[in-house]
Amino acid sequence: MVRVSTRHQRPLNEAREEMRTVIVTGGNRGVGLATARNLAGRGYDLILVCRDEERGEVALHSLHSPHNRGNHRLVVADLASLDSVRAAAETIGETGAPITALVNNAACLPRKRGTSADGFELQLAVTHLGHFLLTNLLLPRLRGAPTPSRVVTVASAAHSGPPFNFRDPNFERRRYRRRRAYQQSKLANVLFTLGLARRVAGTGVQAVVLHPGVYDTGLLRDYMGRFPGGGMAARVGTTRAEKAGPVVAELAVGRREEDLNGVYFHKNVRAEPSAAARDREAQERLWSWSAAVTGLQAPKADGDAASPSVRSGGSGVRNTALADAPELPLG
Ligand SMILES: NC(=O)c1ccc[n+]([C@@H]2O[C@H](COP(=O)([O-])OP(=O)(O)OC[C@H]3O[C@@H](n4cnc5c(N)ncnc54)[C@H](OP(=O)(O)O)[C@@H]3O)[C@@H](O)[C@H]2O)c1
Repeated sequence: MVRVSTRHQRPLNEAREEMRTVIVTGGNRGVGLATARNLAGRGYDLILVCRDEERGEVALHSLHSPHNRGNHRLVVADLASLDSVRAAAETIGETGAPITALVNNAACLPRKRGTSADGFELQLAVTHLGHFLLTNLLLPRLRGAPTPSRVVTVASAAHSGPPFNFRDPNFERRRYRRRRAYQQSKLANVLFTLGLARRVAGTGVQAVVLHPGVYDTGLLRDYMGRFPGGGMAARVGTTRAEKAGPVVAELAVGRREEDLNGVYFHKNVRAEPSAAARDREAQERLWSWSAAVTGLQAPKADGDAASPSVRSGGSGVRNTALADAPELPLG
């Protein structure tokens, strides 16, 4: 077990000035932007990780107000590219800022099956693999924060359902259904967080995962689709995305007196994730697979046909070999 540095035990007010930076992926709209705005209002510096420079700049600009001129930054990165994620982590590392929290928020819900730059099903790539790699690469910076830092992953109540399909994580052997792929990617968010929680226990990092609530965003509209007559709003109501800000921000920088490591929240209430998400073997299996295909871990054995050709850059990693392997190490 890693020893807890005494630096983590300094009084909060003393450390407060030194830890002010929060990273939000997909921070240019919806839940991510609402979270960033709330955090900016609390005096934190934001690093927005966005895939589109123009949209990111607009969002960045909107964080400033006459009363709040935080040191906000934009890092342009596509979470659907492992190379891009690596470059983003390097750029963030160069800022030297101790990170108070990383909010893994970005997600997508394409109607038709898409693939990432590295050949993974797009939802799994953006929602899980990109965040898995980013989090792991930033862990040294998170551990370096003067008070406990948090990795907050925005999952969804939609993670409930069937277990993660390790035989076909990329929807290559079964028909792609976007809501099914969304469920799997959100389940991956929860499995990842619970696996991460075990790994960071006692290091000054807390891994938290939540269903943020239901808000009228682009992604919700994609999820609900078009309904004849009433439309999406009539089915789920129209809670403005802005209302998500305090919910996510509070888990990122608030409730300091609580140890939130390994906790699943339904909005701001502790809750139990689905049975499939609580499956420890699945958590470890997903961790092993993700580490291998993102290049975090060396291939298993020389000449092992089931081992992926992992390169340090991550790009070009072929993912199906491991996905096909029925037994994965739980290390
Ligand atoms: N809205 C809800 O009711 C609800 C409910 C439960 C959970 N959630 C969760 O809340 C989170 C935010 O969703 P939202 O509702 O706010 O959706 P949204 O408004 O559609 O925002 C999604 C964000 O993810 C970004 N993104 C998509 N693909 C990306 C990529 N390849 N690289 C980098 N960024 C990418 C988008 O960037 P672009 O603008 O460039 O597309 C956008 O900023 C998601 O994890 C979602 O599952 C939402």
